[in-house]
Amino acid sequence: MQMLALYSIKGGVGKTASAVNLAAEAARDGRRVLLWDLDPQAATTFYLRSKPKVRGGVDKLVKGKADLDRAIRETDIEGLDLLPAALGSRDLEASMETRKPSRLRKILKPVMGSYDLVILDCPPSLSALAEQIFSSVDALLVPMVPTTLSLRTLEQLDGHLDAVDHACPIWPFVTLADRRKTLHRQVMESLSERWPRRLSTTVPNASEVERMGIERAPVGHFARSSRGSRAYTALWREIAQRIQ
Ligand SMILES: Nc1ncnc2c1ncn2[C@@H]1O[C@H](COP(=O)(O)OP(=O)(O)O)[C@@H](O)[C@H]1O
Ligand SMILES: [Mg+2]
Repeated sequence: MQMLALYSIKGGVGKTASAVNLAAEAARDGRRVLLWDLDPQAATTFYLRSKPKVRGGVDKLVKGKADLDRAIRETDIEGLDLLPAALGSRDLEASMETRKPSRLRKILKPVMGSYDLVILDCPPSLSALAEQIFSSVDALLVPMVPTTLSLRTLEQLDGHLDAVDHACPIWPFVTLADRRKTLHRQVMESLSERWPRRLSTTVPNASEVERMGIERAPVGHFARSSRGSRAYTALWREIAQRIQ
């Protein structure tokens, strides 16, 4: 079972949109995918039409006792299940304040055999939960809006991972890009130079991605041939090759 996180210290950079669309693409590609909404804002849970409530209680699940199968919900998308956001709470944060790494993998252990890929939609912070994410995932997928500040944030994340000695690879990719903007093009060039392991697919700033909030579905389900949808298909292909 592989684990990827959509992670950034910044909010509003397309983590949730990317988590939902990449999870849907992976499922379309035949993988058994679990999307875990770790953000208490529960946007992923909202996009996939599932109630943000875990039966059996958050505490139990965090302690690894609850029947995970009951907490996990099916979505309208074949091959894609959701672990909703009830867990993205203070209880989860508190339970993560332990020095033991890979708590997240431990929580998922009872269902490990049922999924090929787990995608985490993360809240924007450098908290105890973030440390657990760093020690659990195979890679951090870091969406970034092409601005100078985002490049700086990426350096900060890299510095932090170095400082705490996490070997977790960072795979940045550009989202919300506007090629008409000179600054966006310049930042994309610096990203390629400084981050050779970046994902080369760029997700454009596209209105159909914004419409996910109205349609409450991945973009490929209501605008399959749009630019946004094609970008996420290409991005998934690139990731799939790396995690083979
Ligand atoms: N490629 C895109 N094109 C246009 N709007 C986007 C795109 N990606 C995300 N958005 C919009 O930007 C806002 C923030 O995206 P979201 O995925 O929620 O970010 P995060 O999870 O990092 O906070 C949302 O309103 C979303 O609809
Ligand atoms: Mg989000």
